[in-house]
Amino acid sequence: MSHSKVFDSTPRQTSPIETRYRRIVTPIPHPDTLPTLETLREFEPISMGGQPPIRWEKAEGFSVFDAAGNTWIDFSSGVLVANCGHSHPKLRAALIDQIENGVIFSYCFPNKPRAELVRRLVQLAGGRMDRCFLLTTGAEATENAIKLARTHGRNTSGPRRRVIVSFEGAFHGRTLGSQLAGGSPALKEWIGIENTGFVNVPFPDEASGKDAAFSDFLSALDRLGVAPDEVCGVMAESYQGGTGRFYPTQYMQHLRAWCDEHDVLLIMDEVQAGFGRTGKLFTHHHYGIEADIICCGKGLSGSLPMSAVLGNSRFMSSYGPGEMTSTHSGSAICARAALASLEIIEEEGLVENSRRLGDVLGSEIRALAARRPDLISAANGRGLMMAILFKDAAGLSGGEVAMKVVDTCVRQGVMLYAPVGPGGATVKINPPLMITEDALIEGLGVFAEAVECL
Ligand SMILES: Cc1ncc(COP(=O)(O)O)c(C=O)c1O
Repeated sequence: MSHSKVFDSTPRQTSPIETRYRRIVTPIPHPDTLPTLETLREFEPISMGGQPPIRWEKAEGFSVFDAAGNTWIDFSSGVLVANCGHSHPKLRAALIDQIENGVIFSYCFPNKPRAELVRRLVQLAGGRMDRCFLLTTGAEATENAIKLARTHGRNTSGPRRRVIVSFEGAFHGRTLGSQLAGGSPALKEWIGIENTGFVNVPFPDEASGKDAAFSDFLSALDRLGVAPDEVCGVMAESYQGGTGRFYPTQYMQHLRAWCDEHDVLLIMDEVQAGFGRTGKLFTHHHYGIEADIICCGKGLSGSLPMSAVLGNSRFMSSYGPGEMTSTHSGSAICARAALASLEIIEEEGLVENSRRLGDVLGSEIRALAARRPDLISAANGRGLMMAILFKDAAGLSGGEVAMKVVDTCVRQGVMLYAPVGPGGATVKINPPLMITEDALIEGLGVFAEAVECL
């Protein structure tokens, strides 16, 4: 692992910061937290070492606190989880009630929160969805979607129909199947198996000037030697997580029609994009399409591990009783968290807030990108999701520039997570959807200064 991906955890004093939303009054990271960071470094694999060196003590709404009284504006949502805000009182109360008065996991037996949640999710997703299978992580959801698509292909057309098509640069998780479906060859080297039935087609990027026509999809399949009757599923992130790019609407509509024509399941991976993040409850609805399978995770519960696969009984019922299960499926306590989070999102109009504040986020960041074309190659986003792609500059790689920006922001009281995407050159801004306009603007000011001062 490149050490440029590890944050410097040397405590450094900055001038004290005390604003309405930020408080940085000790060296960062606080020296008392160093033993925790050292224990993690000693006992965890280095893969876990790419996180900013701040020991979260508490998080509420859009604020993160350490034990020494420092406060950050959260631009991470805990990596796109806390859409409803951290530790919302309603969510906390639901969890406490479940802990004190109910079962605290599923025991693989029916429980009421699980029943309420699957019904709610099917209602919310609408369209072709009439079944919901609850799991724990996003990668489990995408794995399960792959399994369902391959099983359905096999059941309807025989073993030849097994190809999963996904997009170059895609990310669907880090387990075997989800990583095979991913679009980064380097991440799949460890698997070491050929002819897996997973192929990647180019991401149809309007912004980069590439031809975004759907004919690109068809010619890519042709080039790869894949006939439509070999394809069981097309899997797409609703926007590309590593770069924040969206698909051209027409392309997605053509893709939908092509999938229908060839009896291919269209799997929309909403693990990152779901539950209001981009100004719609489900991001793929921006394209005016219905999915066959929707994979959810992260923001579904706003907190505890909970994921879901939504689909139609036509293929969701391919497996008999006891054949498609998971020990923690529908954990009562996680289901309560998800139900509370969905309620908060609805009651507090957070999808609308994401759309409204997304305009502020978009215009501030696009103005910054226009001021600093020497540093920023693109700014892609919608709603409260913005991805800023950094260039090589001042003798640093784009990845190093991005790390520097994140490090400066974190030391100045704005919480971000490690850069992502190709070369680690993308910084993502994704605050909880309940952030206020003035807190968003304050945080964006810190971000802009961190970029301008490079
Ligand atoms: C689009 C997408 N799919 C799947 C996953 C995997 O989710 P998890 O990390 O919960 O396994 C992620 C995680 O970042 C993601 O962004």
